[in-house]
Amino acid sequence: MKKLYKLSTNARKEIIAQNYEGLPGIELLLSNKFIESEIGEALIENFIGYYQLPMGIVTGMPLDGKLVNTFLAVEESSVIAALNNSSKLFRNSGSIETFIHQSVLVGQIAYNNTELQNNELLNHEKEIFNFLEREFSSYFNRGGQLFSIEKIKTENFTTYHIKINPLEAMGANLITQMCERVSVLLEAEFEFPKPLMCILSNSSPKPSVTVKAKLKCDETLGRRIAQASLLSAEQPMRASTHNKGIVNAIDPLLIVTGNDWRANNALLHSYASKDGQYCPLSKWVYKNGFLTGEMSIPLQLGIVGGATKVHPFAKLSLKLMEVETKDDLQRIIAVSGLLQNFSALRALVSEGIIAGHMKMHVDNISGELTKDPSIHKELVSLLQQRLERNKKISLSDGKELLKDLIFKA
Ligand code: MEV
Repeated sequence: MKKLYKLSTNARKEIIAQNYEGLPGIELLLSNKFIESEIGEALIENFIGYYQLPMGIVTGMPLDGKLVNTFLAVEESSVIAALNNSSKLFRNSGSIETFIHQSVLVGQIAYNNTELQNNELLNHEKEIFNFLEREFSSYFNRGGQLFSIEKIKTENFTTYHIKINPLEAMGANLITQMCERVSVLLEAEFEFPKPLMCILSNSSPKPSVTVKAKLKCDETLGRRIAQASLLSAEQPMRASTHNKGIVNAIDPLLIVTGNDWRANNALLHSYASKDGQYCPLSKWVYKNGFLTGEMSIPLQLGIVGGATKVHPFAKLSLKLMEVETKDDLQRIIAVSGLLQNFSALRALVSEGIIAGHMKMHVDNISGELTKDPSIHKELVSLLQQRLERNKKISLSDGKELLKDLIFKA
């Protein structure tokens, strides 16, 4: 599936239909029709309709020696183009490796210190472990693990942190439910007060996935990208924008797979601040002709449960990307985030990002005015010349140039 961007949308859809024929949901996606209302009604209250985002494909993204096609739902024009571009570069002149770490999901039971008095949950650890094993037996039968219960005491509050392995689900409801049930047990059996709250934490001090990328790279560009990386490490004002470039690819993948992108944004930005200063999530270094990038991040996602179970396009996206385990999805998300970051830094330290945006703008203007491929090509070239001359371009420039073209023909 090379050079899909050069095709018309219909031609592209035909290729996708042929390549993914028979996958449940694919016809509906390509038809541009709406999903049935029952799904929206099942997901939210006061459902009135669907807000649609453009969905696109990134082909041949290198990942652990294989090439994967990824699908993103996103409105920002440069995201998919940039990812296709960096995928091609790393596929031809680089390599990408990923590593999975143990995912740990934390639930908090929070007490006010005055109300808690001398009650100590850790004195009942054994009873709590046994209770959870009994009450959540299906989770434990599927391989679930309760790692530990830890205590954090601050000025006004004591929180107990129940740490579990979320398995293939995000686990948000499971861990919150575990915390609530434990607090009820403590009230009933050990005269504990009612807690202030029980809820999962969208924070993790440890990553769940690491990605390492290596690219044969021109020295000037490599050194400038490494400088850009250093700038974000020194200045939190820049680190935030640097990380925005990373979530530019992560969010669209979370959205398309029906995962909770709000949770992951909270998680990623809290992870970025774990050492007391807001830091970049990735690091790029240049040495001896090679640029290397590395990023370790936590992710809270699932491939079963929640919207992934209900939304036809979430299920479809997992199939399109051949995701069979949560770790497959973690790897795809991490690689996409780092490649997106690379593309942004490369553009920023060379021609600047406006040039790329303008190229797409030119393409969009021409696409809006003509569906004829040969006129489109000529119009793009004329628009580009005018852009270079005037440093700006608009739809009325397009209309004027198109008139000239047609007139000459
Ligand atoms: C724009 O959506 C993302 C960038 O600002 C990221 C960055 O500055 O690294 C280009």
